[in-house]
Amino acid sequence: HNYAVIMAGGVGSRFWPVSKKAHPKQFQDILGSGKTLMQTTFERLEKFVPAGNIYILTNEIYKKIILEQLPQIDPEQVVAEPVMRNTAPCILMAAMKIYTRDPEAKMIVAPSDHWIHNEYNFASDVNLAFKTVEKANKLITFGIRPSLPNTGYGYIQYNPSASENIYPVKKFTEKPDFDTASHFVAAGNYLWNSGIFVWKASQIIHSFREFLPDMYELFDNGTPFWNTSLEPEFLSVTYPSAENISIDHGIIEKSPDVFVIPASFSWNDLGTWCALEEELPQDVDRNTVVNSRFIPLEAKGNIIRTEKDKVVFVDGLSNYIIIENEEVLVIVPKRKEQEIKEIRQNVMNRY
Ligand code: GDD
Ligand code: MG
Repeated sequence: HNYAVIMAGGVGSRFWPVSKKAHPKQFQDILGSGKTLMQTTFERLEKFVPAGNIYILTNEIYKKIILEQLPQIDPEQVVAEPVMRNTAPCILMAAMKIYTRDPEAKMIVAPSDHWIHNEYNFASDVNLAFKTVEKANKLITFGIRPSLPNTGYGYIQYNPSASENIYPVKKFTEKPDFDTASHFVAAGNYLWNSGIFVWKASQIIHSFREFLPDMYELFDNGTPFWNTSLEPEFLSVTYPSAENISIDHGIIEKSPDVFVIPASFSWNDLGTWCALEEELPQDVDRNTVVNSRFIPLEAKGNIIRTEKDKVVFVDGLSNYIIIENEEVLVIVPKRKEQEIKEIRQNVMNRY
């Protein structure tokens, strides 16, 4: 059977102040679509996976928000980590839980905070991945054609000789520096890692055993079968001693079993405010407006997002990000969007 794991433990700090520790971007309607990214992700996965087979892994401070946003799920489907240990530990835990329910299980692992268009293409790519892992012990990721040397992504060098739109990965490089990323983009046979994976539960557990043996030993307790009654104790006592490492560094960079399906869907990881411009329409002066009733005077190329229906006048300001929540108003030039993360950390951490 098919299972899904949604990872929802991050803070999304470059989307501050709309994304903030108490209420990160995955739980918000960032694009003004009427649904939060978490709800959209759940609905997308529900098309391949029965709702009862979808697990959500998150920090314990977000469990309540998730149950509010997804009232249809059983609270048992939300696994609440007491500490952030990045994606490898939570994926191993989920794989063991799923393997225990069904040793033949296939699973898709997806972040909660991405935006995907053409759901139809997404479905056909994911179906191809599920069909492939049923027959072979492959770890599959979906690759995105890179448009610029973004250093926030994993880069997949693939071998285009194979058939069937699914290629062996020659080398996976997580978050290279700018020069390396530029070289990769220019070379042509590289894709960005979308961070969405498909594999058999048994195969990813096997990979942990091989490439992160300490974590495997810590979690397996003599058997990879999960004891649900011991889960609260596991989470509070054992989980915090797991190594803090991403699945990308821990497994994907090391395993020879990684394959890539070049995505036929369009994808945006909504990493920063400027990513909104690709997803939303602009006015004649290239302003992008979410929620606000915007009255432009002389204003070009701004990104504006306020509380619903607030009237906003802007005169004499171009290429700025103007964002507010109930407590904070932030106005920064677009070229400094990466610094929003630091502004939040240094100046206003409490918001
Ligand atoms: N449950 C849980 N626990 N989830 C977590 C944790 C954690 O400790 N840490 C991060 N997450 C969630 C985030 O909320 C996000 O949905 C997902 O896991 C990925 O983590 P990010 O922190 O957003 O990773 P990244 O964006 O730096 O890099 C990954 O995604 C890129 C594409 O967006 C990598 O897979 C890259 O290779 C990839 O290109
Ligand atoms: Mg991310």
